[in-house]
Amino acid sequence: MEATFYDQVGGHVFFVRLVDNFYAEVETNELLRPMYPEDLTDSKHHFEMFLEQYWGGPRNYSEERGHPRLRMRHAPFHINRAARDAWLAAMSIALDHERHDLSEDELKELRDYFDMAAHQMRNV
Ligand code: HEM
Repeated sequence: MEATFYDQVGGHVFFVRLVDNFYAEVETNELLRPMYPEDLTDSKHHFEMFLEQYWGGPRNYSEERGHPRLRMRHAPFHINRAARDAWLAAMSIALDHERHDLSEDELKELRDYFDMAAHQMRNV
């Protein structure tokens, strides 16, 4: 069986680290931080499970949260161009931390995906 992208980039450990680094940026961002709950534990957990599932890893997200319906789940938040760009900038910094451990192709695949997904999440 061919390895999934999830396995290829380092599995659970990789996604935990990526999400931690992403939220470290969210925590200091004055536009993004107020959108998220005070305690980020669940937010991190949900995002991490979602990404693992998306990239071919364990399907815990759907077991715990049901169908992703990401656009619907983001509807309560005011995601304009500035919020989307701030989110993408935070993710870009988190991905920069991984640049020594990933191939150019892997990095590009992740960046392209987040870019596409963030454009879809804009709702204002
Ligand atoms: C475009 C800018 C975005 C903003 C401002 C944003 C903001 C948020 C906020 C405020 C939450 C709620 C956190 C919580 O309730 O704990 C959330 C949840 C989430 N976001 Fe985003 N988000 C964005 C884009 C994305 C993208 C591109 C993805 C996927 C690649 C994503 C995946 C998720 C997931 C999986 C959750 C948890 C859903 C659940 O409740 O199960 N978000 N986001």
